[in-house]
Amino acid sequence: MEVILADYLGFCYGVKRAITIARENASADGTACTLGPIIHNPQMVERLSDEGVGSVNSLDEMEKGTVIIRSHGVGPQIYADAEKRGLTVVDATCPHVKKAQLSAKSLVDEGYSVVIIGEKEHPEVRSIFEWSNAEAKIIETVEEADALPNCAKLGIVCQTTFSGAKFREIVTHLLEKSREVKILRTICTATDQRQAAAMELAAKVDRMLVIGGKNSANTSRLAQLCATKCVTYHIETAAELQDEWFDKIEKIGITAGASTPDWIIKEVYKKCQNR
Ligand code: F3S
Repeated sequence: MEVILADYLGFCYGVKRAITIARENASADGTACTLGPIIHNPQMVERLSDEGVGSVNSLDEMEKGTVIIRSHGVGPQIYADAEKRGLTVVDATCPHVKKAQLSAKSLVDEGYSVVIIGEKEHPEVRSIFEWSNAEAKIIETVEEADALPNCAKLGIVCQTTFSGAKFREIVTHLLEKSREVKILRTICTATDQRQAAAMELAAKVDRMLVIGGKNSANTSRLAQLCATKCVTYHIETAAELQDEWFDKIEKIGITAGASTPDWIIKEVYKKCQNR
């Protein structure tokens, strides 16, 4: 049986950078913490905790030390709160997310009614929303775009991990809403690259394995896309592999979400090769 890795898979630039920054700020006394899990991967969160980077859900849980802002970013209020509490802030916000946040802010400052295209509850989208002075409308479907009122000046930003095709479709509808539309296409290519590579591979193998946290939106999206091409299994670790998945197949493909550590991908790859 042939085991094939997707051309692009696993950690993206922003996640790699955030983990490096977190490690550089680890502390033996447990006072360095990320605000929320650094990435949507429980195994990585546990490993970092062993290395001296904890995780809190709220600044209320921290009396001193260093708060590490994860790649998804946070709103301006969190920086102000952390400063008020005397915490050291280490900002590991992905530069692409930062760009989306600042784009939303500048659009509001320039008098645009701002629309964020993205998943309403995603932490990154919440952070972009906060940077818009909590004024932006968040939409993720064509129907929601159609339901928006007309306005004098419309500014559009996008969740970095949103599908490029869906973004274009929604923007087409938004163009009807104003005479002046400013579009800041804040989509990051890492997502498109991973999705395209996964689809290409899924079309030429018998089965696909998609590795990543069950709570990771981008991993779940990869699994959904691959499932349109072949039988697909979404797993978090090699321990979930099942013998019957390998029955009578010639080729199996592997991809992984942007928050899946290399060591987990290698483990799955090796286990598959040994079948
Ligand atoms: Fe950044 Fe793109 Fe990754 S926005 S966190 S490099 S998916």
